[in-house]
Amino acid sequence: MRKPFIAGNWKMFKTVKEAKAFAAEFKKLYTPSDVKVAIAAPFTQLESLVKAFKGTGIKVAAQNMHFEDEGAFTGEVSAPMLKELGVELCIIGHSERRQYFKETDASVNKKLKKALEYGIMPILCVGESLKTREAKKQNEFVEKQITADFKGLSKEDALKVTVAYEPIWAIGTGKTATPKEAQAMCAHIRKVLKKLYGEEISEEIVIQYGGSVKPANAEELLNQEDIDGALVGGASLKAQDFIEIVHF
Ligand code: 13P
Repeated sequence: MRKPFIAGNWKMFKTVKEAKAFAAEFKKLYTPSDVKVAIAAPFTQLESLVKAFKGTGIKVAAQNMHFEDEGAFTGEVSAPMLKELGVELCIIGHSERRQYFKETDASVNKKLKKALEYGIMPILCVGESLKTREAKKQNEFVEKQITADFKGLSKEDALKVTVAYEPIWAIGTGKTATPKEAQAMCAHIRKVLKKLYGEEISEEIVIQYGGSVKPANAEELLNQEDIDGALVGGASLKAQDFIEIVHF
């Protein structure tokens, strides 16, 4: 049985002071349940969030990492550095990283392998642009991403990856994919994973939907058969909004 997994992605928002205030408020509102919860914060807030959420079951994620252990890569942060802080997960291949920082499926694949080597659970983001959807090429496009991103990953490692389907046209636009559209793509992703790893594994991999998820639309999206969770941007910045999604 797949466990629901709701993750917040703060992107480049909040100072340490603001993160601490969020954690204090969120902990008061949070009731532990079967739903797995994580917050992906900028690097500078990770240490204080790990401390603040200790013993609560709420997990802390990074939003990116480098694929080498160390080296002359100015401005980058590596998997062992995150591990040392107690960070348990990392978003990899977010469309904003692919778009603004020129990440490719090849670098995403290296990052996935490095995260898994250090026991950091990846949240792999995939999703098509509006242009690709308008050309009705979204299934083909996402299949290509999944196949390239998972290249060389064992079955055991594949099980540790959460896939987040985030259509680029629905991110930060207020334009959500309809539950039917989101379900169709998540089912397609599971079919691709079945092709790569077999039915048993594909049925166990957790697939999230992301793109303008908010308290008002979370339940309907999360009730879809192949949508096991959500990756929440804007609505994860306010403890009250995020808790309503977590307690959907
Ligand atoms: P929004 O929820 O703000 O649309 O962002 C989605 C996202 O990119 C999460 O990673």
